[in-house]
Amino acid sequence: MKAVLCKEFGPVDQLVLEDVASPHAGAGQVVIAVKACGVNFPDGLIVQGKYQTKPPLPFSPGLEVAGVIQEVGAGVENLALGQNVIAFPGVGGMAQEVLVESWLVFPMPDSMSFADGAGFLITYATSHHALKTRGGLKPGETLLVLGAAGGVGLTAVEIGKVMGARVIAAASSDEKLALCRDYGADETINYATENLRDRIKALTAGKGVNVVYDPVGGELAEQAVRGMAWLGRYLVVGFAAGDIPRIPLNLLLLKSSALIGVYWGAALKADPAKGRADVAELLDWYSAGKLKPCVSATYTLDKAAEAIAHVTGRQAKGKTIVVMA
Ligand SMILES: NC(=O)c1ccc[n+]([C@@H]2O[C@H](COP(=O)([O-])OP(=O)(O)OC[C@H]3O[C@@H](n4cnc5c(N)ncnc54)[C@H](OP(=O)(O)O)[C@@H]3O)[C@@H](O)[C@H]2O)c1
Repeated sequence: MKAVLCKEFGPVDQLVLEDVASPHAGAGQVVIAVKACGVNFPDGLIVQGKYQTKPPLPFSPGLEVAGVIQEVGAGVENLALGQNVIAFPGVGGMAQEVLVESWLVFPMPDSMSFADGAGFLITYATSHHALKTRGGLKPGETLLVLGAAGGVGLTAVEIGKVMGARVIAAASSDEKLALCRDYGADETINYATENLRDRIKALTAGKGVNVVYDPVGGELAEQAVRGMAWLGRYLVVGFAAGDIPRIPLNLLLLKSSALIGVYWGAALKADPAKGRADVAELLDWYSAGKLKPCVSATYTLDKAAEAIAHVTGRQAKGKTIVVMA
């Protein structure tokens, strides 16, 4: 089978496409014939050896896939040969076949395409975990989403609306903000041309926002902390801008507000039953038409490095995927 390989940590253009041996399912595992693989910002970090986890070399990038079960290991009872699934292998998705622990595999709804399925799991589950479990977002509260047209950001806009919040989407271009409006954002802030803190104040009659969802970090973070309401919750999701912000703690004291870490992959592994229940709720929302995955760029497997660069280079809107054929 063909696989994109990272043979040494470094720039994504060092990735190569090669023939490798097919994997085989051990006890509790399945092999999935991959139809499409979702591209995520961490793919670029993992390939460069800059992520919190470093897979043993050589490996294939690709954290999440959609495909068809092609081999079932001993003791796996909830999945069948030929079944369409989405899965979170965590590594190895940019290949024609991937080995996955069966508990990280979910049946794909009949109405879902492989393209939508490939980009569903990480972004929606991260935003669900952030807004519901970590942030306790309540109906009628105001949610500010930074990087709102990106992979996780756009799902936070959608889930915020499903949960009954007023959503302010913030991003770096009017084109990106138009997409956020299409996905339900009530208000928008272009932080390339407008002062974030001033606009938050103007849009909330000076009260500030109840919850901030931040996958960007960098210099926007302190402005957003200053734009929080009394009892505000600041969800630390990622640092796409590169810099990890340092926040003066007096700002939290003044508003009785909280900084809250969010790490969906680790939360899933810490409490698999809760993580699987959350994904089941998201798939129900999808089947009910409440979520509409936005796949805006598609690359073939031989162009996987370009796909990753598209995401890490601030070009992507919604999801980017790699397809096998
Ligand atoms: N905590 C978790 O469990 C979890 C799960 C998944 C992802 N993440 C993290 O969330 C972040 C976003 O991931 P993603 O896959 O959604 O990425 P993405 O689609 O590329 O979105 C990131 C957004 O960040 C903004 N950004 C600002 N400065 C940037 C820069 N210098 N380079 C690139 N983007 C920049 C961009 O929006 P504008 O152009 O509008 O500013 C972009 O849309 C990453 O840090 C990732 O590691 C965390």
